[in-house]
Amino acid sequence: MYSERVPVQLVTHPLVLDALVTLRDHRTTADHFRRAATRISVLLAAEALRHLPTRAVSVDTPLGPADGRQVGVDVVVVPVLRAGLGMLDAVLELVPGARVGHIGLQRDEITAVASQYYSKLPARLDSSYVVMIDPMLATGGSAVAALDLLARAGAQAVRIVCIVAAPEGVALVERRHPAVEIYTPVVDRSLNQQKFIVPGLGDFGDRLYGTV
Ligand code: PRP
Ligand code: URA
Repeated sequence: MYSERVPVQLVTHPLVLDALVTLRDHRTTADHFRRAATRISVLLAAEALRHLPTRAVSVDTPLGPADGRQVGVDVVVVPVLRAGLGMLDAVLELVPGARVGHIGLQRDEITAVASQYYSKLPARLDSSYVVMIDPMLATGGSAVAALDLLARAGAQAVRIVCIVAAPEGVALVERRHPAVEIYTPVVDRSLNQQKFIVPGLGDFGDRLYGTV
């Protein structure tokens, strides 16, 4: 089990829960799965971006000047391929100016150990607000591999947005990257023998892209 200190932010907005149950339902077809993934990702990302620094600005409306605030930092969003791509458009809808880094990781079907096949990260991560998106946090192997890569590239405080987490994955992230915050609607019961989250929602990438 994960300890009380784990920086897990449970996001339980009713619309998050509504989208989550659609994603879990085995009858949900790929088109509805994609739309639910986008809906839930908008809400989760908004929560992960809640403390985004802003700066004061002034604009002219048709009727005169108005003070306001706009995003005051460089935002970098990092989808973990391939399933993380199903969350990317949602985050870019919220922060259109974000830069995007990609990390390709694939779990071995037998051992569930993740290996890296791709990485392309933006420069100057040390001064950016970095949000990593990967819907499933199962053993935590993929998340830790991606976080290691981001740390080596200079990223400071990274937030992870996921859709379903397992206690094992949360615990591993806590042990290896204690400063990282995890935004998720739920921490499920456990992993099965194949290291799939139970009850989870199955293989997110396969359901998103219809590769089942
Ligand atoms: C899935 C998922 C995570 C990873 C989680 O990806 O998108 O990246 O498994 O499992 P872990 O916490 O045990 O590492 P997968 O390797 O199946 O690749 P895909 O996104 O290409 O389908
Ligand atoms: N990856 C998935 O897509 N689902 C799981 O349950 C575990 C890893």
